[in-house]
Amino acid sequence: PRVAVIVVAAGSGTRLSAGAPKAFVGIDELPILRHALDGVAAAPTAQVVIVAPAGREGDARTEAEAAFGDRSDLVSVVVGGQTRQQSVAAGLAALWADVETVLVHDAARALTPPDVFERVIAEVDRSGAGVVPVRPVVDTLKRVTGAAVDEAVDRAPLAAAQTPQGFPRALLESAYATAAEEFTDDTALFAAAGHPVHTVAGDDLSFKITTPADLDRARHLLRPTAA
Ligand code: C5P
Repeated sequence: PRVAVIVVAAGSGTRLSAGAPKAFVGIDELPILRHALDGVAAAPTAQVVIVAPAGREGDARTEAEAAFGDRSDLVSVVVGGQTRQQSVAAGLAALWADVETVLVHDAARALTPPDVFERVIAEVDRSGAGVVPVRPVVDTLKRVTGAAVDEAVDRAPLAAAQTPQGFPRALLESAYATAAEEFTDDTALFAAAGHPVHTVAGDDLSFKITTPADLDRARHLLRPTAA
């Protein structure tokens, strides 16, 4: 199938408090977006749509050219919206006509290994379902009301959702066209439209860089010997 990857990178990065939109914060000498695009560039993809913060389209293009080199003409850059869901919708509107399978990926999951992309694409291809990479939940979970613990939650049937999440393009577009509320991820929106969702194995390296501690972790993973 012809695969497109939408890389959502339009978040403000408020929780990272690094003074720049998150995608342009450096991990090592390279920003989060560049690391994310290096992973995407290793996947079998016919189009890449980067959804950038307003005013940073040129910077996104620069990172795309560094990551894709002479394949840079497969990259489109569009401006995102107020919410992640609006940003994905902006990316969908930029897909080329012949794209059959769409992956939606958080730029903030900058160290996602290429084999995760391959597993997601293969399962969409095999099943025609939406596909989410998952990891087991490691923390013990509690249901709480304010400061009070109501009950423990059995974590055995739970999984933590990651990206890239993959979909047959036509089904994801119709699910977005009819979505009546904000969802926290694309497979939730897709399932609410009545479509099946399958899981594949995610990877610990696909963690989302959200807080300063996450950025430290990414830095140490790239430079394990640095102080
Ligand atoms: O805020 P959060 O970490 O959940 O964002 C996940 C991904 O969605 C990030 O890569 C971020 O850049 C992107 N995003 C976006 N547009 C928004 C909000 C988040 O592209 N309005």
